Amino acid sequence: MTVLRERALAVMDRAYAPYSTFRVGAALLAADGSISEGCNVENAAYPVGLCAERAALAAAIARGSRTFDAIAIATEAEQPTPPCGMCRQMLEEFSPHMLVVSVTRSGGEARWSLDELLPKAFTPQSLERR
Ligand code: THU
Repeated sequence: MTVLRERALAVMDRAYAPYSTFRVGAALLAADGSISEGCNVENAAYPVGLCAERAALAAAIARGSRTFDAIAIATEAEQPTPPCGMCRQMLEEFSPHMLVVSVTRSGGEARWSLDELLPKAFTPQSLERR
């Protein structure tokens, strides 16, 4: 978990967040042991901006990983922050029981399971019509 934490903190430094000035980094650990990273990428057209967690997930899917054990999220906030609702939903699709660890530069850490963060989720099974 130390490696995942370090990777999330390192990618946070490469975030593009000139509008919010809230930089976020994410490192996603796949069941095959690979780690995919992402950072938030904002845009002058504000709603176009992308969260770090979804950027990491897209990178992981592109490299062929679809099952995840954990995600580490790093921010510059004083306290560890949980992922936004849209990111919870996107992670849920692939690994609903994954561990979510949020860290700060000053050594703060909080842990949740994704089940805990997104109870009663809309899942692929929810689309079954019969
Ligand atoms: N952000 C993330 O990247 N992940 C989160 O979990 C929460 C928010 C980004 C979106 C936006 O670029 C900035 O942080 C402020 O909301």
